[in-house]
Amino acid sequence: MARATVPQWVLINAVALALMILLPSVVPAEVTSKDSISSAPFGQATDGKAVELYTLRNRNGMEARIATYGGIVTSLTAPDRAGNYTDVVLGYDSLAGYLKDSPYFGALIGRYGNRIARGRFSLDGKIYTLAINNAPNTLHGGKVGFDKVVWTVEKAQVGADGPELTLHYLSRDGEEGYPGNLAVTAVYTLTEDDALHLAYRAITDKDTVVNLTQHSYFNLRGRGDILGHVAQINADRFTPVDSTLIPSGELRSVDGTAFDFRNPTAIGTRIENADEQQLRFGKGYDHNWVLNGPIGTVHLDATVYEPTSGRVLEVLSDQPGLQFYSGNFLDGSITGKDGRRYEFRNGFCVEPQHFPDSPNHSNFPSTVLKPGEQYRSTIIYAFSTR
Ligand code: GLA
Repeated sequence: MARATVPQWVLINAVALALMILLPSVVPAEVTSKDSISSAPFGQATDGKAVELYTLRNRNGMEARIATYGGIVTSLTAPDRAGNYTDVVLGYDSLAGYLKDSPYFGALIGRYGNRIARGRFSLDGKIYTLAINNAPNTLHGGKVGFDKVVWTVEKAQVGADGPELTLHYLSRDGEEGYPGNLAVTAVYTLTEDDALHLAYRAITDKDTVVNLTQHSYFNLRGRGDILGHVAQINADRFTPVDSTLIPSGELRSVDGTAFDFRNPTAIGTRIENADEQQLRFGKGYDHNWVLNGPIGTVHLDATVYEPTSGRVLEVLSDQPGLQFYSGNFLDGSITGKDGRRYEFRNGFCVEPQHFPDSPNHSNFPSTVLKPGEQYRSTIIYAFSTR
């Protein structure tokens, strides 16, 4: 059978056509090239453990950098209304800064976030005493909280929702005075719709207390103070505190107070109201709001908008409370990334949590975790523009 010779140009075009049809399904150029997770050495912790810095990048180009030391978010970029990416969290360029002096910049917080009065609580009829690291109270888990340990990496992958990093820490029975071996997993996911998700899970082998949160300091403008940021908090009440920032136990209405953020209000509008004792105690905002959303279901806790850049941060969680802290202890003594000095109120924290000092307040939602139960909490920092 005589074979018809196919002109060469027909062959070449046929191959080219085949490639054009097939190529997109083989290598979807858009996702793979930008959707990634990678790691690099970040130094050694004081206990000699090696620390890694993971970079999570979604397909839009948003990036989160997370250290295995303290599960610290060292940088987080977000676009402004013109699409320019800027780092919107405070922190350091290197591990040394975090090891030397950090007011919990970007860290995972536990075993018990915020304060426990006088470092004492009783559980099952037994008194537990904790390290006093924020006299006269215990703050953020004690001297060596979850922010100052090296977490192990269980998984680092690009998952269905985007790049995700699974960290694990075993807090041994008696660590910092707390009862029970507590096995904690923290999963960070940087989603394709520009949100950083944090999912905590924890189990214990003895009755204990658990209150985990995230301690990023945000500045949506990337520099200067945060007084022009416009905040809205979905809470009708807050928990007033004493001069050492321990709740009195009251759930007070925000009505007619400087704590009413039910309508979008610039953070700086009322922050200096001298007649508000609570603001004097906090040196500004450093309080727990009682969220309106149901515990255990993810709800919108707060929205913060920065007018000059157009950046919007929405905070969602399944927690009963939100610590809103306006960076009142920042005093210019810390020089962070890019040589920037962090002055008074150069950053704010929005820490979804159970209420401070709950083990000492029976009217607060319980933070007791028993063997056989699983602690679960979800925190979402979602970015957009206006
Ligand atoms: C929390 C506390 C503040 C302060 C910061 C860290 O936000 O509520 O009082 O201690 O941590 O400095």
